[in-house]
Amino acid sequence: MWGGRFADGPSSIMREINASIPFDKKLWRQDIRASLAHVEMLAKQDIVAAEDAAKIIDGLNQIAQEYEADGVPENLDLEDIHMTIEARLTEIVGPVAGRLHTARSRNDQVATSFRLWVRDAMNDVSDGLWDLREALIARAKEQADTIMPGFTHLQVAQPITMGHHLLAYYEMFTRDSSRFWAAKERLNQCPLGAAALAGTGFPNDRQMTAEALDFAAATANSMDSVSDRDFALDYLMAASQTALHLSRLAEEIIIWASQPFGFVKLSDEWSTGSSIMPQKRNPDAAELVRGHAGRIVGCLNSLMMTMKGLPLAYSKDMQDDKPPVFEAHDLLGLSLAAMTGIVQSVTFVPETMRAAADSGFSTATDLADWLVRDVNIPFREAHHITGAAVKLCEERGCGLADLSPADLTAIDGRVAGHDMPDLSVEGSVASRTSYGGTAPEQVRERIAELEQTNRL
Ligand code: ARG
Repeated sequence: MWGGRFADGPSSIMREINASIPFDKKLWRQDIRASLAHVEMLAKQDIVAAEDAAKIIDGLNQIAQEYEADGVPENLDLEDIHMTIEARLTEIVGPVAGRLHTARSRNDQVATSFRLWVRDAMNDVSDGLWDLREALIARAKEQADTIMPGFTHLQVAQPITMGHHLLAYYEMFTRDSSRFWAAKERLNQCPLGAAALAGTGFPNDRQMTAEALDFAAATANSMDSVSDRDFALDYLMAASQTALHLSRLAEEIIIWASQPFGFVKLSDEWSTGSSIMPQKRNPDAAELVRGHAGRIVGCLNSLMMTMKGLPLAYSKDMQDDKPPVFEAHDLLGLSLAAMTGIVQSVTFVPETMRAAADSGFSTATDLADWLVRDVNIPFREAHHITGAAVKLCEERGCGLADLSPADLTAIDGRVAGHDMPDLSVEGSVASRTSYGGTAPEQVRERIAELEQTNRL
């Protein structure tokens, strides 16, 4: 019934499902670089004659110029970037082009090109993270004394400083950066020369190609070389963790910029208006950073599911390794750049933040600590007494600092004869001088330390 039409159908779909050129053309620089290293090695080892190698090298350099100028042609019949380059090389230098593929396979070729690409991507992200971390330090320095409420459960907890809050993110992004460095070290071995899966009988020099491509060593097992994509998963895991941190900062900025909070004002550059509500200034960039984090984690899931349960060595499933990495990298690059711009340009509103820090009995812990330190009451009891003091304030509609020594003595006789402690938000923040605490002097000390040491 439908057989006549079907006869041609599968082959065109086959061609389409098989082709990776629409996305892997991004690897053209890496593929040419690896081929140049490979053919130089083949010549040095007398596997390919020097004059043939010279022709191939000229041809590859010409292709690089063509692609630089005009982009990569996308012919689905040629399947992928590796075949596309080889086909063009054949047009330029003739059958001698066929010698390039001696002692290698597309399996080690694609693993090498992709590793080179991911290694560059890791460097890009480290640069992006560096800029964001610099922006956080600069703003933290400027806001070291700016008091704001610190939250737990999004309920006012204790007063902190904006400088301290920003440096918390600095620490997170620094660990993220170290994840990319560590991943790069693991990635930095060269699979070229592993061939299809078993190695090759040609006397290739794998150390030579590894060195030419700036790898620390050649991979030690030919099957592992062509089968694993853990270097790409390492990238996606580090990217996902970075994206999660970005999404939390984005969420805080969105909350801070909302009218009921009003802790910050977003600059024109990093906000958008509404087509119907003229008064609106929306935090779209921060919302998209928050949203992109979900997509980046989705990319990690995608590649994990691709790799799960694959038998050694190469299976075509693995061609699906590239789109999630490319997508995550684009999204992460944009997110980092946008967040850096937001951090650099956001305006803080200290009065609003100070007033909020003064609400919700935020210095209750300071009162309890004072009862322990000055009145010599065990902390659990001090906690109870302070709870009663908060209740009294709620009944009177006043703050803790408005209570008199007599009020506290009425709650617990042991307070008799003591003056009231300093329960101001300034006093509270200044007292948090423990290492890593929120006191402005601690924040400044940390910044000085960061400015003096060589950071990753
Ligand atoms: N386009 C393929 C990929 O990206 C190249 C490797 C093909 N190898 C093979 N044995 N079919 O994974």
